[in-house]
Amino acid sequence: MNSLQNSNLILIGFMGTGKSAVSHQLSHLLSLPCFEMDQLIVENEKKEISEIFEENGESYFRDLETALLKKILLKNGSIISCGGGIVLRKENINLMKNHGTVILLTATPETILERVKQSQSRPILDGKKNIHDISKLIEERQDKYMQAADIIISTDSKSLSQICHEILDSLH
Ligand code: S3P
Repeated sequence: MNSLQNSNLILIGFMGTGKSAVSHQLSHLLSLPCFEMDQLIVENEKKEISEIFEENGESYFRDLETALLKKILLKNGSIISCGGGIVLRKENINLMKNHGTVILLTATPETILERVKQSQSRPILDGKKNIHDISKLIEERQDKYMQAADIIISTDSKSLSQICHEILDSLH
């Protein structure tokens, strides 16, 4: 396995692909600290993500995201769960590729809709919680996700433990 002490495991993927749950489980399995970027931004700003988008705008949120990513990547040996839009900036893709192994989690639009349909905290999906719009958003981002990914893991119909073991196997 890559020496994780000298690198980071960075989870990326569209909303609802399971990044947070998988990163927490990996953190537990590997005894490495886990950084959940959205959660840290909420704590730092003392505002929900939807409030940040509404009051400060998306580009302010994206600036926070890049600044936080840089800060987290100063250290090695972490599991990092990124927000789904982290790949929208080329700078973030370069940072991630230079400082860790980037794991892309995928899921079909149907699975994603099922997982996000009750969520009120994803402003990008406001008014777009349907298969057509989710498919379109995934398609718009697909090249960027692929550009960033070192490892791609599909999460449809898999348990958390199955997904984590697939990831660990692919690191050998
Ligand atoms: C976003 C994904 C969200 C959060 C924000 C924007 C996106 O994170 O960062 O709402 O642009 O895809 P999750 O992927 O954890 O839901």
